[in-house]
Amino acid sequence: MGDSLATAELTRTERFLRACRGEPVDRPPVWLMRQAGRYLPEYRAAREGVTFLQACQDVERAVEISLQPLRLVGTEAVILFSDIFVPVLGMGVDLDFRPGPVIAEPIRTREQVEKLVVPDARAAVPYVFEILRRLRAALEPEAVPLLGFAGAPFTLAAYLVEGRGSKDFGTLKRMLYREPAVLRALLERLTEMTVDYLNAQIDAGAQAVQLFDTWAGLLGVAEYREWVLPTHQAIVRRLRRDRAPLILYVNGGAHVVDAMLESGADVLSLDWRVDFAAAARHVGRRAAVQGNLDPCALAAPPERIAAWVRELAEAGRAARGHVLNLGHGCLPETPAEGVRAFTAAARKLAQ
Ligand code: CP3
Repeated sequence: MGDSLATAELTRTERFLRACRGEPVDRPPVWLMRQAGRYLPEYRAAREGVTFLQACQDVERAVEISLQPLRLVGTEAVILFSDIFVPVLGMGVDLDFRPGPVIAEPIRTREQVEKLVVPDARAAVPYVFEILRRLRAALEPEAVPLLGFAGAPFTLAAYLVEGRGSKDFGTLKRMLYREPAVLRALLERLTEMTVDYLNAQIDAGAQAVQLFDTWAGLLGVAEYREWVLPTHQAIVRRLRRDRAPLILYVNGGAHVVDAMLESGADVLSLDWRVDFAAAARHVGRRAAVQGNLDPCALAAPPERIAAWVRELAEAGRAARGHVLNLGHGCLPETPAEGVRAFTAAARKLAQ
């Protein structure tokens, strides 16, 4: 009773941060990974005449794109418009987006790893922090939370070694077995960069941060524990989590949920292959959970989407907290109507 009174008039920022920290809320907050993207005609218009990288570096444009989902599809948090490879530019890596990251000279040797600079992110990619400061100033009066993010070391390494996206990242996995010391050194540099980059985002106004380890689920449990978990633990330990909770996302990570828990992240973001109810019960008081509708399910009729939202919200109650989201990012084919149905159903949960 006391809780329901205390949560009666939560702002969006309070609801979001409380859910991440496992404090009482009236209902789960909602946002979507890749909520600003090609599925929105307004995003395509804002991208006209500039490359993806130019859009990430153009402060005004990036602020506008970041804010689009708030008005257009009713999400309750704003994530910085950028990419996990933006800070990698500051490491001296020549890369381009076509549309995914393509590395001019894939990193395969110790000499190449040693040439990688661990930059002061504030100096290397100053526009990222300017975008965050402007977003925070725009969102503060409305009490909408602002998220920052980074790619996790293993996922960044996957592209850096492979040179581009891949189904199985076989070059990276072979390096793991053939040249472990080279991969170890690469992950160490990327971990340093990531800690500095995320803390600088928190200083610039990010109120929560998400670490994307999209490809870590390619590893078996033992390899994940050896190669991925220590990077997460180092980041968790050195992040200013008193100022911003950390959400950890792993795609295809149903087999590593226990290892994700051991990272110490505040929120575990699970993909749609995971039985959300079972995972939330399993996680219990040890962490909050985020997820996990299949992005393709947003093609369904609105009443079915609403039913899934109610099911997810019910399932999420078993965990310490729950943030409603998809199991992976919105796709270019995602109907905006489906996204609106998802957020509208979330807002209705309280009634
Ligand atoms: O969530 C958000 O809305 C914030 C912005 C964001 C982008 N990329 C914008 C983007 C975030 C958080 C990312 C993360 C990212 N980028 C990941 C991890 C999460 C995931 O989706 O798995 C990865 C692996 C990347 C690397 C990357 N960037 C790929 C594979 C691609 C091509 C795939 C695609 O969607 O086209 C990109 C390009 C990219 N990043 C786009 C956007 C909006 C599309 C580029 C365009 O609009 O031309």
